Amino acid sequence: MKRLLVTGGCGFIGSEFVRQQLANYPDQTVVNLDALTYAGNVENLAALEGNPRYEFVHGDITDRNLIDTLLKDKPFDAVVHFAAESHVDRSLLDSGPFVRTNVLGTQVLLDASRAAKVDKFVHVSTDEVYGSLGATGLFTEETPLAPNSPYSASKASSDMLVRSYFHSFHFPAVITRCSNNYGPYQFPEKLIPLFITNLMANEQVPIYGTGTNVRDWIHVSDHCRGIDAALRKGMPGEVYNFGGRCEKTNMEITLLLLELLEKPQSLIRYVADRPGHDLRYAIDCSKAERELGWTPQVVFSEGLRDTINWYRENTTWTSRVKSGAYRQYYQQQYASRLA
Ligand code: NAD
Ligand code: DAU
Repeated sequence: MKRLLVTGGCGFIGSEFVRQQLANYPDQTVVNLDALTYAGNVENLAALEGNPRYEFVHGDITDRNLIDTLLKDKPFDAVVHFAAESHVDRSLLDSGPFVRTNVLGTQVLLDASRAAKVDKFVHVSTDEVYGSLGATGLFTEETPLAPNSPYSASKASSDMLVRSYFHSFHFPAVITRCSNNYGPYQFPEKLIPLFITNLMANEQVPIYGTGTNVRDWIHVSDHCRGIDAALRKGMPGEVYNFGGRCEKTNMEITLLLLELLEKPQSLIRYVADRPGHDLRYAIDCSKAERELGWTPQVVFSEGLRDTINWYRENTTWTSRVKSGAYRQYYQQQYASRLA
């Protein structure tokens, strides 16, 4: 895998993946294609400026001409596809961009990658395509897809397209499905970075419903090591689940953050629940452990402490991404939840 095309490399997980690839594989080049939506920041990879093995291309995965030309002109061994609209709450406000990028964009990329005869295509998906668990059980790769939000429905649709290209054309694609990531550079609209940055500013933290919903947390570096393993060792046509074996209720996360940041519980604000809020996600990642030799390594308490430190040390990044259009989105979102 000497020449990689990464989509969405200016986002949270994609930028960690690009950093890891360039650090771990000295003879590898990475082209990062990103549309720089509100969630994408070139700044996330500023440390790579001038690196001869890294190139940034500003563009949209739904732009067929651009994608066809890029894949025709530059021979890539593999494509790792992160680019997506990724936030459930935004998909409840407007599902249009989710269908456009996550479904149509994936189709454009699949067609161009197939024509370019890439050796491997890794489609980065999510455990949310499986729907919601009750109090017990785990998602396995055999769990039927039952997406509940427009976001997860668009990701499940893209998974089905990828699956169909393998079955119809023997296209060498693998699908990865991971649980909730946390770590540096996560856009502060998601639970952990939103709560860290709000608490740092002594602002309230809005808990949806009763705070009893459960997520399975994994450090972004563990997720990216899993994607790397799927890229190099994954069998075409297969799905690999990744998770942190770290189930926590949203209230547990909130209390931990209050303790680590030394803030009072009076900053907790209960707000209206997310419509269709999935109760619990939890991943069985034994297939990836068995077949890819991967295992999650970061201990949650340590990863969370490091993440808090990162946000403390990068307040310029945070205030920039939290300003302007984001502020407006956040205020509208929470005004409607308080109403
Ligand atoms: P993110 O929102 O932080 O980043 C998405 C990136 O994609 C941004 O850089 C954005 O500019 C880019 N992008 C969006 N639309 C584009 C388009 N049309 N063309 C080109 N680039 C475009 O997302 P993330 O949290 O880093 O998630 C990355 C991937 O991982 C997504 O596919 C998501 O579904 C999946 N995933 C995320 C999590 C999680 O916990 N965050 C867990 C499992 C899977
Ligand atoms: O499971 C993987 C998925 O995890 C990814 O596919 C998504 O891209 C990613 O956004 C994430 O989805 P969630 O909806 O689980 O993440 P979010 O951080 O938005 O919410 C986590 C939990 O916290 C969820 O139960 C809703 C709750 N929540 C979230 C926010 C933003 C709150 O209680 N208050 C909040 O303000």
